Order: sequence, then C-alpha cells, then structure tokens
Amino acid sequence: MSTLALKDVKHAVFDAYGTLFDVHSAAAQHQKKLGDKAQAVSALWRTKQLEYTWLRSLMQRYVNFAQVTRDALDYALESHGIADESLRQDLLNAYQQLSCYPEVPETLQKLKQQGLGTAILSNGTFEMLEAGVRNSGLKELLDGVFSVETIRIFKPDPQVYQLAVDQLGCDPQEILFFSSNAWDVSGSATFGFQAVWVNRFGQAPERLPGNPVLEIKSLDAVLKYFSAD
Ligand code: 2OP
Repeated sequence: MSTLALKDVKHAVFDAYGTLFDVHSAAAQHQKKLGDKAQAVSALWRTKQLEYTWLRSLMQRYVNFAQVTRDALDYALESHGIADESLRQDLLNAYQQLSCYPEVPETLQKLKQQGLGTAILSNGTFEMLEAGVRNSGLKELLDGVFSVETIRIFKPDPQVYQLAVDQLGCDPQEILFFSSNAWDVSGSATFGFQAVWVNRFGQAPERLPGNPVLEIKSLDAVLKYFSAD
C-alpha cells in the first residue's frame, strides 16, 4: 500500500462502471427472461466489454464504449445460446439507466462538503455517462464528467489519466481516484494518482504495478479518513 497524503488532495475522481454504477443491475432487471443464465451472461458481458477495450487500444482500433458494450453483449448472448432481439434491446436500454450503488450520493455530498472537487473519469461515452448520472440523481454532486471519447483510447492508457489532470489543471498527486477495477487502480496509481481500491467484491489483489493508498469495501468507508467535523 502507498501512503495516503490527504493534505495534497483537491479532487475526488471516480471510475463509473462498477464503482459508481452497478453494471450487473442491467441483467438483474431482466432476471425473469434470462432465467438461471442471468449471472453468467452478466459476468461474461462485463469481462468481454473490458477485454475488447484493452485489445482495441493495443490494436489502435478505437470504437466508442457504446459499440464495445453492444459487441460484448452479443458475444455473451450467443455464447449462452440466447437469440432474442427484444431482450438484447432491453438489456442495452437498461445499461443506459444503471443504478448507482446506495452509498454513492451521500458520499459524494460529504466529499464536496470537505471542499473537494468531484468528477467522473470513464471509458463510457458522454451520452452513456450523462444518462447514468441523470438516472442516479448525481448531476448536482459532480463538477465534471471526463470521457475517453475526447482522446479515443481506453484505460489504463496513461493518456486517460492525463486527461483528468489536464481538465482539472492539477498535479496527479492532488487527485484521489476511486475504482472498483483493480487494473484501473494499477493504471492510475502508476500514473501518479492517489488511488483508492473500492474492493466491492472481495477480490484478490492483481499482480500488477502500482499500489493503492487505501482499500475499502464501499465508497463511504473513505469518509473516516477526513476530519470528523
Ligand atoms: C470505466 O467506467 C470501464 O469501469 C470502467 O471507465
């Protein structure tokens, strides 16, 4: 673990999918139609979505996260022998309206009360992120939304973290970055952010470079590190 230097922190920046928004709530909304395949389809959908972002960055063949999300869902549905266009559309629509985890709004509110700026830094398209922010009622709690659409390459490419530094006009160390995705914690920590691993699912640490300054189970656990007032 790297050392947390709260005195340097000016901005709380958040990964979106898996950290603020529950990616598995899309399939959960259509549990009835998916039946006992729901969990496996949702897990494969997320795995493929991330794999495609990494591979497309390496190949320099960017398409936006909405396209990657459609492609990953098509792979997951076909892998499970599901050919149902209306269910496919329902799942894609649900992904546009993901719910945020329950502790998110209050935690953002309290971090703002500590004088921090708040922003999202995500692979999501501006359209996807704005829909998620609107649907979760987070609009008033976020000072900025930064999408990799601006630079057309996905995390963990260092250009993504540089985008947040450029947009905020700050040093990397002044960003407290939250992600539930350990590979994103690795990318942001090696870039120079103070990275917090929101280990929601009790995963083992990745064998990758860069260490988090904190490991917490849910976003609100960070609040105890700020002054009690
Ligand atoms: C993000 O929101 C994909 O969770 C990742 O950037």
